Amino acid sequence: MRIIVIVGARPNFIKVGPLMPAFASAGIDARLAHTGQHYDAAMSDVFFDDLEIPEPAWFLGVGSGTHAVQTGTAMMKLEELFSAERPDAVMVVGDVNSTLAGALAAAKLGIPVVHLEAGLRSRDMSMPEEVNRLVTDQLSSMLLTPVASAGENLIAEGVDPARIHFVGNIMAESVLRNLPRIEGREVPVRSGLETGGYVLATVHRPENTDHPERLTAIASALSSSPLPVLLPAHPRTRPLLAEAGLDTSGSAVRLVDPVGYLDMLTLQRDAAAIVTDSGGVQEEACMVGTPCVTVRRNTEREITVEVGANRLVPADALAIREALGNALVRRDGWERPERWDDEVASRVVSALESGVLPLSGY
Ligand code: UD1
Ligand code: UDP
Repeated sequence: MRIIVIVGARPNFIKVGPLMPAFASAGIDARLAHTGQHYDAAMSDVFFDDLEIPEPAWFLGVGSGTHAVQTGTAMMKLEELFSAERPDAVMVVGDVNSTLAGALAAAKLGIPVVHLEAGLRSRDMSMPEEVNRLVTDQLSSMLLTPVASAGENLIAEGVDPARIHFVGNIMAESVLRNLPRIEGREVPVRSGLETGGYVLATVHRPENTDHPERLTAIASALSSSPLPVLLPAHPRTRPLLAEAGLDTSGSAVRLVDPVGYLDMLTLQRDAAAIVTDSGGVQEEACMVGTPCVTVRRNTEREITVEVGANRLVPADALAIREALGNALVRRDGWERPERWDDEVASRVVSALESGVLPLSGY
């Protein structure tokens, strides 16, 4: 079987980390196409190094742009690639613009689409990712889900249950495979911070960064944290934080550049609590046992709230302070969700080996 796996943005790289070796051992000819949606070394190359991901066979150099420009440019380049290569299937992962572009370009050429991380829903159509998820799932021939409820969401939307495979969460497998590699790891950016003596924060969702009052509320809550806060800032967030009045001189917050995966995993494991709006970080916090506060209106990762690892709060300074206070005093254990284990990539292989049926009409 010959497949092309599409990656483009930071969380995509982490998702393919455990997959590529599993494909190689199973004799599946899987090659990566990198759209170039993320291109800074700290947003792309570092993950290939940290996770020993094979070099992409194609690098499409799409870069930044509005949603339509970015998605459309990626579609044009992927259509050319798929037409020339004619793979048996195209795999897309997650919910970014590169995911949607890969699904649209392949589906229109009659090439079956396999979606890993299918069926998650925030039910918030103002999130670009929700639009990407809905369209990608409708175009997919095989839907690989991370949680049982994702399968229920898909069935409610009319997806044929025979196409749905509950493989589990690939982000969880990545955590489990890499935790032994960070034993004893010292993170340079953490210098001066003690294990269990700091809060780790990430902010990059447009619902927070593109609304000055929400970003100001988050900045204000972080600045008054009882513990120092380490904030590796996404490139879109950094200039906006300064505009939102985040004063790093004399405040609790230390702003740093984005860090690599192994450093990030170490920082998450060793933090007293995490404040984030990231999808992947909510899941990783749940895996490493660090209480998480998610600053969003909703989450498609509600399982992390259900198991007790995560609490969802609006971008309101008081609400964030209170939730962080609770997270810092309570560190009860919780059960990891079903199939958030180290067998996810092998379930993906089994699903592919069972055969990918094209959608009707082909
Ligand atoms: C994208 C995804 C989001 C995901 C996030 C992961 C979509 C719609 N959004 O958001 O779901 O959570 O990636 O990080 O696909 N930039 C750089 N260097 C880079 C990449 C981006 O400076 O290497 C800056 C550019 O100014 C760019 C901005 O970040 O315009 C936003 O990048 P983009 O890929 O459009 O969206 P993200 O916010 O990264
Ligand atoms: N991440 C990282 N360094 C950082 C911030 C995040 O390695 O400075 C990792 C994080 O551990 C997770 C992934 O990036 O594996 C999540 O990506 P992001 O938050 O950008 O996107 P989302 O998951 O929200 O789509």
